[in-house]
Amino acid sequence: MRKLIIANWKMNNLKLEIEDFSNRLIKLINNKDLRLIEIAICPSFPYLSLVNRFFLNTDLVIGAQDCSFRVGGAYTGEVSPDMLKDNGCKYVILGHSERRKYNKEDNNVVKIKAEAAIDSGLTPIICIGETQEEKERNLTLKVLEEQIKGSVPLSFFENVIIAYEPIWAIGTGNIPKIFDIVSIHTQLKKIIKHLINREVKILYGGSVTPDNAKAFFSLENVDGLLIGGASLKAESFFNIINSID
Ligand code: PGA
Repeated sequence: MRKLIIANWKMNNLKLEIEDFSNRLIKLINNKDLRLIEIAICPSFPYLSLVNRFFLNTDLVIGAQDCSFRVGGAYTGEVSPDMLKDNGCKYVILGHSERRKYNKEDNNVVKIKAEAAIDSGLTPIICIGETQEEKERNLTLKVLEEQIKGSVPLSFFENVIIAYEPIWAIGTGNIPKIFDIVSIHTQLKKIIKHLINREVKILYGGSVTPDNAKAFFSLENVDGLLIGGASLKAESFFNIINSID
């Protein structure tokens, strides 16, 4: 399976930084064989078409960090998945824990957004993850299963990608034990297989850096990475990409 590497820039990078990032990354990946790796950059809405333009003649693709629950209409301030598609997006990240926390998005909202995104021809990357407290109470798998069942539209399951991002690992420098990641991804694949009898990609996210990326890439059932902080600078993002054998 082709590994997928997603840069989630969150609310970072202005025009000049984006220009600098893009010029550097294009030079760095120039001789890289990308047949076994897909790379997607996810900037904030206002910069989607700018990033798209920079990477137009490369194999890189772009994605958004959220979308509306509707494909069009009278929804002031919303950005529809049709508009994302129209601006060159292939992917949209949905249900990130920061949106679940600060924008009070629950599983049902994520599911409706995912349906709208799929309707528009986008591939949603649906984020799930447990809190530190849930982990300590041994509730991780229960929480993840609930999030999967609640936020993935069952009839379109094969059109989505899951990103397992333990909330306590995001931006903290703490990562799960390698054994736990393999075991959780394997369990998640089993849950999904049971639900739809198909395989879907499961990415890992949370404090991925150039130093630890290599270990993740070699893991069974880890189909790629969702990277926040370490994707903001071209060199560090490239070093992560480059750590795939
Ligand atoms: P991080 O963020 O790599 O900075 O921990 C990952 C994410 O939130 O997607």
